[in-house]
Parts: sequence; C-alpha cells; structure tokens
Amino acid sequence: MEFTTCGAGETRALGAALAAVLRSGDTLLLEGDLGAGKSELARGIARGLGYTCPVPSPTFTILNEYEGGRLKLHHFDFYRLSGPEELYESGLQEYIGAEGVTLIEWGEVALEALPEDCLVCTLTPLGEEKRRITLRERGGFRPLDRTFWKAGGEGGKPCSLSGVQTEPAEGSLGKETDKA
Ligand SMILES: Nc1ncnc2c1ncn2[C@@H]1O[C@H](COP(=O)(O)OP(=O)(O)OP(=O)(O)O)[C@@H](O)[C@H]1O
Ligand SMILES: [Mg+2]
Repeated sequence: MEFTTCGAGETRALGAALAAVLRSGDTLLLEGDLGAGKSELARGIARGLGYTCPVPSPTFTILNEYEGGRLKLHHFDFYRLSGPEELYESGLQEYIGAEGVTLIEWGEVALEALPEDCLVCTLTPLGEEKRRITLRERGGFRPLDRTFWKAGGEGGKPCSLSGVQTEPAEGSLGKETDKA
C-alpha cells in the first residue's frame, strides 16, 4: 500500500489509523533516511494506541517503552548501536516482537536481530513536507486490511491524507487508485 502525506500531522494521522489494526506481537520496521519521518509515524502509532504522553525519539536511549495503552509499545532506534552484539549485550533484543507492538528505526544496523515476519514501513521524502509512505507485509505478517486508514485516525476521526493510493500486489505492474 502506498500513501502520500503532506506534513508531519498527516503522517501521524496515518500512524494513528494504522495503530487500530495492530495486534500484540506485531513488529514494524520504520525505514528511511535521517529526517524521513520515522519518528513522526511512530508518534502517530503511539497516539492511536492511546498514549497521550510525549513520544521522544529513542536515538540515545535505544528503546523507549510505553504501557497503559491498548497495547504495550516498544519503540527502538538502532542508529547509535555499533551492531547486533551491542544489542545482545544490552539484553534489549528480548523486547523485539514481545507482548505489545514493536517499532524499529534503523533496523539495518542489527539485521540479524530482526524478525522475519514484520510490516515494513518505508518513508521517502518527496519534498519539504511531502512523504511517500509504503507499507509492505514481510514473511508471514498477515495481509493488512487495505481500508484501515479510512476507519479513523486520532480520536476516531477519519484520517485525511492527500493522494492516498493503494498499489497492486508486488510484481504486478501499474498503479491503481483506491476505489471503494
Ligand atoms: N509529511 C511528513 N511526514 C513526516 N515528517 C515530516 C513531513 N513533512 C515534514 N516533516 C518533518 O520532517 C521531520 C521528520 O523527523 P523525524 O524525527 O520523524 O525523522 P526520522 O526519520 O525519525 O529521522 P531519524 O533517522 O533522525 O530518527 C520532522 O521535522 C517533521 O516535522
Ligand atoms: Mg527517528
């Protein structure tokens, strides 16, 4: 599925809508360059799970944990890790895919520690405020309901996104504008 958001608020709205269809044990890889909007998407997911507290970037802490929402939330940022060994030494890898939802930024730093089954969320800047966000199920991650984003974002309000599109399954050609 592919979305285009204009501004961090829309990316958070997409995250909040996505949160509604997440289940305990889900792992989401948030991919994209520095400043792509991974932490903004994470913030939206946290809001959608019912966390109203600040959701700072875990760049220095490696892991920020949240409890008390619909599901627990483990928000990782591997950017400052030297590699998988440092993750194992810290013992933090035990929280990956544990009870609740796991979000991982800069997962490429410790590829071998990542679960095979996950939702890959790729953010690509298309301009100052515009981002392309693609969601792709990997391994045995269940197929996402392609209409999840219509069900409601923050506070149950419909999520408004510019140029929302869904894409045909990988391998097929061409683009299909969302129908329903
Ligand atoms: N459509 C958009 N979606 C998300 N962020 C946006 C968008 N438009 C502008 N921005 C801005 O881009 C920045 C994204 O920062 P963010 O910390 O989320 O990036 P990141 O991918 O987590 O980077 P890092 O790799 O440093 O952790 C913010 O300043 C945000 O306001
Ligand atoms: Mg970040």
